[in-house]
Amino acid sequence: MKEYTLFLIKPDSTKRNHIGAILKIVEEHDFIVKEMKMLKMDRTFAEYFYEEHKGKDFFERLIEFMTSGKTVAAIISREDAVHELRKVIGKTDYHETRPETIRRIYGETVTRNAVHASDSPGHAKEEILKVFPDFMFDNNQ
Ligand code: RTP
Ligand code: MG
Repeated sequence: MKEYTLFLIKPDSTKRNHIGAILKIVEEHDFIVKEMKMLKMDRTFAEYFYEEHKGKDFFERLIEFMTSGKTVAAIISREDAVHELRKVIGKTDYHETRPETIRRIYGETVTRNAVHASDSPGHAKEEILKVFPDFMFDNNQ
């Protein structure tokens, strides 16, 4: 079934001019970019976006990183998009992932790991609406 997921190119990647290279990998895996914008997260928005991690030991580090520069946000569509995009980005820790994953190629540390992709269809819907509140889902979403 066609599905939507939320994809972020994080501040480490935008600063190092990796936006085009990362989007190329995504498009080469048959994902379609439905919506896209660039934003600079402020603390309030970053804490809201990552609220599931509030209280964890890495939370402050994560918020400082996500507010340190610009982020590209995109709604990505494909069959089984959530699961398939997670495979293309690789695991959270960039050096544990398969060599061809985006995080392995462009990640620098566990925190500065280049990209984000929603980890479940439920989270995808929530995250899309956090970043693109006016997005109209199709009937099958
Ligand atoms: P994301 O949400 O960004 O796609 O990453 P994820 O699902 O693979 O990992 P998650 O557990 O949701 O963590 C969110 C982000 O927090 C940073 N992080 N740092 N131990 C650490 O220092 C640590 N663990 C996680 C990463 O930036 C991770 O992507
Ligand atoms: Mg996550």
